Formats: sequence, structure tokens, C-alpha cells
Amino acid sequence: MNNAVAGFSKLSKKEKIDWIANEYFSTPGEALNIIRNYWNSDEKLQQLHDEFIENTITNLYIPLGVAPNFLINGKYKTIPMAIEESSVVAAASKAAKFWAARGGFKATIIDTEKIGQVHFSFNGDAEKLQSFFQQIKPKFFSDTQSITKNMQERGGGILDIQLKDKCNLLENYYQLHATFETKDSMGANFINSCLEQFAATLKEEFLDSALFSEKDTLTVIMSILSNYVPNCVVRAEVSCPIEELAEKHITNPQEFAERFVQAVQIAEVEPFRAVTHNKGIMNGIDAVVLATGNDFRAVEAGVHAYASKNGQYTSLSHAKIENGIFTFWLEIPLALGTVGGLTSLHPLVKLCLDMLEKPSARELMEITAVAGLAQNFAALRSLTTTGIQEGHMKMHLNNIINQFEATDEERHLIKTHFKKTAVSHSAVVEFIESLRK
Ligand code: MEV
Repeated sequence: MNNAVAGFSKLSKKEKIDWIANEYFSTPGEALNIIRNYWNSDEKLQQLHDEFIENTITNLYIPLGVAPNFLINGKYKTIPMAIEESSVVAAASKAAKFWAARGGFKATIIDTEKIGQVHFSFNGDAEKLQSFFQQIKPKFFSDTQSITKNMQERGGGILDIQLKDKCNLLENYYQLHATFETKDSMGANFINSCLEQFAATLKEEFLDSALFSEKDTLTVIMSILSNYVPNCVVRAEVSCPIEELAEKHITNPQEFAERFVQAVQIAEVEPFRAVTHNKGIMNGIDAVVLATGNDFRAVEAGVHAYASKNGQYTSLSHAKIENGIFTFWLEIPLALGTVGGLTSLHPLVKLCLDMLEKPSARELMEITAVAGLAQNFAALRSLTTTGIQEGHMKMHLNNIINQFEATDEERHLIKTHFKKTAVSHSAVVEFIESLRK
């Protein structure tokens, strides 16, 4: 079948859905029902969601959970987390409780600098370009005044602009490399608007300059922020005397601490393990980033680039034992915003930020990094003690029960049975089948 379609974006929502249902489903009515079941009954709210993107047909729900009891820099927080993976919120809550009894999490902002670049090609004398750049540098600032005025009033703006010669990488390749402080906004629109103005100024001034001959050419290729933000970094940490690590699953805290540190060291030296280790951190980070309406793709891309900054992909977290003290920490780049974007537009995002007591972007960076560290702690604690499947499968039990559309009575019997028995997919299926015989 040829499923190509012309002018799809111009169709009405109903026409789009009908086209999808008829084109791809043998029972279009069923497909239509599923699509409509996920519409919000409040039409205005549905319209708001429809307009976030193009060609919206319905909403995809992701559970929004909360992990309470996070003691961060001496204050308790309940952290909202949007995630589909069964065990993540439970693990975060457990880690929060564990560390609240041991002094809590400490979080500090290392820096909040953002980056944007104008990429251009220039064929001519590099030294002339450098003196041209020095001459016109103030113009980049004055030409962007109308864009930067509000940001400057909030204490942010353009920090610096440099000309970078990248001809060793690519013939005639240069950049304007600019740094920004964007305060409580993630700053993507602000940065991109500034960069596009820099590009316009660069082209205009080049044409007007007497420094260059007719043979010299300058072509702007593109202007865009970078999601790699190695100077927009937050540190989260937990520590306590080794003997205080003792609890139900940690009967020998010294042995636990040593094994835990070894597990982190493996992720520091071994990329296959580092990727999974960092994925565990991102379980916490992404869930908070999503719940607070931030751009999780930007965060993901930036975080993994940071994890490879020394030439080999490595662990984002570290652990040590020194003078009988166990310390576990992570440093992570997070370009987050608490104003602009979806933050005031999406009612649930706004609710999540209110639940976090309207944090500044710096505070949200701290909270998010802590959620990542907590998640990493919970995963490593399970991995180095009971194994990951015990907790994971306990949480996954509900998914299996739902898959088999168990009745309330069956649900009760299954849950009671698996309180004492190890959960595995086949064991649950067998048990359900025995109930139904
Ligand atoms: C699963 O989502 C995350 C873990 O694999 C993380 C880890 O291995 O550290 C459990």
C-alpha cells in the first residue's frame, strides 16, 4: 500500500485521525476509540495540548509519581518524577529515606554558563579576520541590546564572544563562540536570537570592512546554541561514616562500602558498564526534567558528551572511602529552566514546580542532580547486595497482572502468593494459569 499523503498538516484533527485509522488499521473503529479514549474531556485543556506540536492526534500518558523525603541542603523536598519504568520512583523514595537518616544530600552549583556558536567559513588572511573581529566585537553587544535588555535586568546576558579558528578541523572553518548567563530560563530562544543577530552583524560588517580584498569571502553556515554545557554543572553528594551504612540489607557496612566503590570504579574504567551505570543516573534525571517541562533530549545529549570529555566514556558518579567515611558524588551538566517554555503553559508542569516550591533554575539543577545520585545509589545498592531483579520484578508484577487482565480476586491472590515467592514472568504466568484452570 502507498501510505504517502499530501497536505496532511492542513487537514482538520478529525480528518487526520480518520486518515490514520483507515490507512493503517483493519478495524478503524477500534483505533479511533483508543485515540479518543486518551483525549481530555476538558476541551480547552485538550486544545492546549493539541497546540504544543503539529499533527496532534491524542495524548500519550506517562505516570507522574512523587518521591518524598529528599533532604537536600537541610530542606525536605518531594520530587515529582514522570517515568514509565516500574521501579524508578520506589527506588528514589527508598534512597531518599536512607540518606535523610544520614545527613541528607548536599548539592552545589559549580557554574551556570551556557554556550552558542555562529559557524562560518572564511577564505582569507586569518590574522586580518582576527583584527576585524576585535574591531567589531562591541558591535555584537550593541546590536543585540534589544534582545538582551530584559535578560540583563534579571542579571544575565552575553558573557563573552570569541573568534575561534577551526581550520585544523575543516578548511576555512571559523566560529563565533559565545557564552551566556540565562538566569532562571533554559535560554534556548534567547541564545539563538542573539546568535542570529551576531551572524547578521558579522555579514554586514564584513561587507563594509576595508580590511578585506574582493577575493575574500565570508559565509555564515549556521547559528545555534550548543547543548554541550560543560560549564553549567552541578555537584550532588552524600557521605557518612561507614558504620552508619548498616541497615536490613547491609549487615557488613565495611564490605558493602568497599564493594560499592568497586562497582563505581568498574563504571569509571569500562564503557559497557559506564553506559548502563549512567542510564541508571538518567532514570532519575530525565524523570525530573520531564516533570518540570524541561528538554530531556538536550540534557541527555549534553550529559553523555560530558561523560566522554576526557576521550573515553566514563561514569558520571564517583565514590571513595577515606578515614572511615564513605562519600558518593556526581557532577553533571544540566541546562534547566524554571521560567519560559512549558513551565507556565502546561498545568501539570506548573503544579510540579509549585510542589518544589517554585525553585530557581539553580535550585532545580540541585534537585535534579540529587534525584540522579539517589537513583544511582539505589541501583548500585541492589546490584551489589540482593541483585536488581528482586525489587524490579516486585514492581513489574503489576504490569504482568494488567497484561493478563486479572480480576480483583485474582489480583489479590497473585499479590499474596508473590509476597513470599520470587517474581519472574514465567512464574506469574504459571500461577495465573493455575488459578484459571
Ligand atoms: C535500569 O533501568 C537501570 C540499571 O540498569 C542501572 C544500573 O545498572 O546501574 C539498574
